[in-house]
Amino acid sequence: MNQSTVEYEPHSGTAVIRLNRPDKKNALSLGMYQKLNDYLDAALNDTQITSVIFAGHEDFFTTGNDIQDFVSVKNQEDFTDVTDFLFKIANYPKPLIAAVNGLCVGIGTTLLLHCDLVYAGKEANFHMPFSQLGLTPEAGASYLLPALMGHRKASQYLLLGEPFNAKTALELGMINEIVEKQDVLPLALKKAGILTRYSAEGIRATKQLLKKTHQEHVTNTIKTELPIFFNLLQQPFSQAVFKSFLNKTPQD
Ligand code: COA
Repeated sequence: MNQSTVEYEPHSGTAVIRLNRPDKKNALSLGMYQKLNDYLDAALNDTQITSVIFAGHEDFFTTGNDIQDFVSVKNQEDFTDVTDFLFKIANYPKPLIAAVNGLCVGIGTTLLLHCDLVYAGKEANFHMPFSQLGLTPEAGASYLLPALMGHRKASQYLLLGEPFNAKTALELGMINEIVEKQDVLPLALKKAGILTRYSAEGIRATKQLLKKTHQEHVTNTIKTELPIFFNLLQQPFSQAVFKSFLNKTPQD
């Protein structure tokens, strides 16, 4: 059977959007972003759905943007599905929940900053290697990360691009709880199930209130980050890193 790279599974009031591209450890292609947008719209328009859970594989949430697309795409318009996704998660009215296991790279980590609840497995590992790739943060991370953990810590993870584990993510306030990997999605579903018992109107209003202080700054930051990111994407430094990754020829 031909399985989709992104799957949509309704679970009595909760929509699970599951990344499913195991051969590339869930690297996100442009086509996957389009599906993510379609499924987020479907969940938003379905009055039976209270919240959305992003899930991946037991050993990898996602390895971030597909590097092949970073080489192939020549102008910002080709990334419309990516930019739509960023603005969508930043302004999504229903609760977003993440169930994270294993590798969580790039947009995998920055999307968590837009989630209302995040649950992770003990072996989850987070990494935003934008500096290593010659790029800059996206998804509003250049605003949200220092707001969450302060400038110094944010520099450690965005300037130096150091990876960090689930324990650190918990201490930094990026995730809510750490459990065994097989328990991550069940826990996320349990918490989402609690939300289904409350007033949908009350939940949406509470989320809106919780987000209101940062909302405008986040949207403006995403707008500011995008042209810088796309300009750097075309530069020789980044293109050389991408090609060496794809050709499996590590640089010195
Ligand atoms: N884009 C495209 N392909 C990717 C990918 C990505 N982001 N991440 C992994 N893949 C591919 C690999 O090329 C490999 O493909 P192949 O089997 O056809 O050769 C497959 O997925 C498995 O990945 P592999 O690198 O063998 O897994 P690993 O466990 O040894 O390493 C990582 C995991 C995350 C360290 C490594 O895959 C990596 O550095 N990926 C790129 C991460 C990144 O920079 N993302 C962009 C952030 S903006």
